[in-house]
Amino acid sequence: MPTAAAISISGLYKTYDNGFEALKSIDLEIRKGEIFALLGPNGAGKTTLIGTVCGLVQPSGGTILADGHNVITEFRAARYKIGLVPQELTTENFESVWATVSFSRGLFGRSPNPAYIEQLLKDLSLWDKKDNKLMTLSGGMKRRVLIAKALSHEPDILFLDEPTAGVDVELRRDMWQVVRRLKEKGVTVILTTHYIDEAEEMADRVGVINKGEIVLVEEKDELMRKLGRKQLLLQLQDKLEEIPDTLKERGLELASDGYELIFTYDAQAERTGIAGLLEDLNAAGIRFKDLKTAQSSLEEIFVNLVREQQ
Ligand SMILES: Nc1ncnc2c1ncn2[C@@H]1O[C@H](COP(=O)(O)OP(=O)(O)OP(=O)(O)O)[C@@H](O)[C@H]1O
Ligand SMILES: [Mg+2]
Repeated sequence: MPTAAAISISGLYKTYDNGFEALKSIDLEIRKGEIFALLGPNGAGKTTLIGTVCGLVQPSGGTILADGHNVITEFRAARYKIGLVPQELTTENFESVWATVSFSRGLFGRSPNPAYIEQLLKDLSLWDKKDNKLMTLSGGMKRRVLIAKALSHEPDILFLDEPTAGVDVELRRDMWQVVRRLKEKGVTVILTTHYIDEAEEMADRVGVINKGEIVLVEEKDELMRKLGRKQLLLQLQDKLEEIPDTLKERGLELASDGYELIFTYDAQAERTGIAGLLEDLNAAGIRFKDLKTAQSSLEEIFVNLVREQQ
């Protein structure tokens, strides 16, 4: 029976043998066909989370479905749907590119399909290296081979664990292109990254994980819309006990023990309301000694979320 979610995770826990709680009650749905970016600092639990979905890490509790198949009780059916590009570069050194990728396909019980493998290698700009032994490839090319391996059995869901860590700008752009093409074909892509701009560029939705907990899941566009909001911060000369009635309409916030007024406005709007605000402040006899504007970026939101939890 087709289900709406590509991946459905509920109440997932992982405590490692040494007692470390790497995942704490994770609930997460990945929609079919979306690109989902999972952000989080080192050690947040990204690789562990992916490992539990792909059957590399035994969950301590909870349920994970991949395209409706339970990853524990229906492991083969679930795993068949999934391609995984691991974070660590490990490749059999003496095999050729062609042999490695073809072999991976066979592991999933798929019958050989040289035309598919050929197209895959061409899409990943690996075709002219198809007879090269892996040990003769550069790091970036090895990473492409890992992607080709992960896609060799035509999975519907692809996990990319830090696909662009330590690769050059050009290869990053190529990777993004590859991911976009996969999305066009209907493949669901979940990628982890430390690069905020990568999430901004690629993702339909963004999730943030910190210390084993999902602390935010949001549409990227919604996040970006919030980013369109700017703040004007006015440092006051004298302490203000409360916002005067004449200024109540403007949605001001009083901060720093009454020494700062914060005005939030839409930077994209034709009229920001700043001029009127300054006139009203003047009329109310409120003097300020300094003013500055602030704009939150995805990076800031991320850093704040992570800091709040410390
Ligand atoms: N086999 C293990 N035994 C004990 N603890 C582990 C094991 N594997 C991972 N951990 C711990 O679990 C936490 C999460 O690790 P994980 O690799 O999932 O983080 P991550 O978010 O992928 O980090 P990074 O961004 O560095 O790749 C870390 O504190 C790590 O030390
Ligand atoms: Mg990791």
